[in-house]
Amino acid sequence: MYRSHNCGELRSAHIGQSVTLSGWVQKTRDKGFVIWVDLRDRYGITQLVFDEERSPAGIMEQSRSLGREFVIQAKGTVIERASKNSNIPTGDIEILVSEIQILNTSMTPPFTIEDNTDGGEDIRMKYRYLDIRRNPVKDNLIFRHKVTMEVRKYLSNQGFIEVETPYLIKSTPEGARDFVVPSRMNEGQFYALPQSPQTFKQLLMVGGMDKYFQIVKCFRDEDLRADRQPEFTQIDCEMAFIEQEDILNVFEGLTAHLLKEIVGVDSSNFPRITYDEALKKYGNDKPDIRFGMEFGELNAVAQHKDFNVFNTAELVVGIAVPGGASHTRKEIDALVDWVRRPQIGAKGMVYVKCNDDGSFKSSVDKFYNQEDLALWAEKTGAKAGDLICVLSGDTHTTRGQLSALRMEMAERLGLRKPDEFAPLWVVDFPLLELDIETGNYHAMHHPFTSPKPGHLSLLETDPDAVRANAYDLVLNGNEIGGGSIRIHDKETQATMFKHLGFTAEEARAQFGFLMDAFQYGAPPHGGIAFGLDRLVAILGGQETIRDFIAFPKNNSGRDIMIDAPAPIDGEQLKELHLKLDEQA
Ligand code: AMO
Repeated sequence: MYRSHNCGELRSAHIGQSVTLSGWVQKTRDKGFVIWVDLRDRYGITQLVFDEERSPAGIMEQSRSLGREFVIQAKGTVIERASKNSNIPTGDIEILVSEIQILNTSMTPPFTIEDNTDGGEDIRMKYRYLDIRRNPVKDNLIFRHKVTMEVRKYLSNQGFIEVETPYLIKSTPEGARDFVVPSRMNEGQFYALPQSPQTFKQLLMVGGMDKYFQIVKCFRDEDLRADRQPEFTQIDCEMAFIEQEDILNVFEGLTAHLLKEIVGVDSSNFPRITYDEALKKYGNDKPDIRFGMEFGELNAVAQHKDFNVFNTAELVVGIAVPGGASHTRKEIDALVDWVRRPQIGAKGMVYVKCNDDGSFKSSVDKFYNQEDLALWAEKTGAKAGDLICVLSGDTHTTRGQLSALRMEMAERLGLRKPDEFAPLWVVDFPLLELDIETGNYHAMHHPFTSPKPGHLSLLETDPDAVRANAYDLVLNGNEIGGGSIRIHDKETQATMFKHLGFTAEEARAQFGFLMDAFQYGAPPHGGIAFGLDRLVAILGGQETIRDFIAFPKNNSGRDIMIDAPAPIDGEQLKELHLKLDEQA
């Protein structure tokens, strides 16, 4: 028996008991006549004590050979501590050790295994197994486990069945590039790893499964960011005989359940806004609504004066930054520089200070009088003490820039509180999106999304106006889930493919299996997928999903611990019928 208790378990009630513990040596303190060793495992830390008076002969010497991260087993008696440590749950007791056994030695770790480690990101990733011994990483993994357990419990109780779908498949278009796997047995042919189980879950609906879910890995070869990994996990769901309203209700239920169980927050009646409204009010389709600063469009009150920058702009739009009037000239200049950075790309920023006495002081006083500026304040909801920041230009770009400024100001003002949760549904997404580079339309969600009833005919005349039965669940400014009601008849699906630029042959080659299935009684169906990594990170009050993944990839898509991706040898290449360009 390696242990009778774990290292987080013993309390005063155990005093006098003989126990056996196993774990890692966190640290040792040697006072000469007495030695303390902190023994750590997943559950906590327990102090071991060795002293000249009470310990058996030889054991003091043995304990002096223990290095950091040695794995040991210690047998002894639980005793009361002379000086108690109220910072840890086991702080009232210690173990007077009678016997130790070194189960394994350890090299000195390349960084300290402590909450505030001295190890940088790269070194911690290279030795991730050591990083996982640290509380912040370990706690995140346990937190993730709790979330997945609650998801499984909730959905199972609602009658959902978890079904596994294959990883070696054919491309499923979700808008990213595929990771491909060469086939040894089929020369010149490749599997694609799923970007999502989209088509399979639809086939499960044709198969009559009715309510499906799966906690599943998805693979997308796309540029990485804090909230993106090349392999990530979805809570993937699909239901038959439902309408959009049913999906929103069921998954609002799941989200509210998680908010309650995981972070203790009550929530219901999630706000719903349309995609168009989200862009107009917040400049993006995943608004953070924990704070206000809604956009005020100023065209009507700022154009047709002598300020040409605004007169020639498609959109003039501002936000009121609470308390911002106290910004000094230097601080405002820094803000102007901030919006002009290439990452944001604004040409400049007009500002209005709303003074406490009700007057205004702006950077464009030459062109606008106090009455004009009062109208700006009205449109942006600015109060005395606020700073109105105004950007202008073409609608799409300007909204994006002001949205970035809104988030930045909220961050600076501490309005993005990690323990506050503001979920909302964004609905009525456009069905199609114009690719400005190629001039082609592609599906905004994916090609299986159904247009709103009555919108199908608009595909020919006004593709931009076609709205879809598609929705996103947004939490604190992050898209944590997205889904749609699907097309379930062959003709509509064929029409969709045609509008997406597929020839009938291409559609047949790529998606013939789905269109065939639709001919055998496909029920009306729809679904949603949550990004589990994102959901877990946000519930945990953070936005970097890497911290909630046991073995994540770095920003170049590499696993620097196992050193992947890596070349494969010539023999393996040959077997796979692959040739590398000699020049490459
Ligand atoms: P979508 O592409 O919107 O929908 O993906 C669903 C959710 O998955 C998360 N997500 C990611 N998380 C981490 N890293 C990534 N690279 C990444 N990409 C996406 C997001 C997103 O909201 N088949 C559809 C779902 C459906 O229609 O039912 C789909 O995959 O949180």
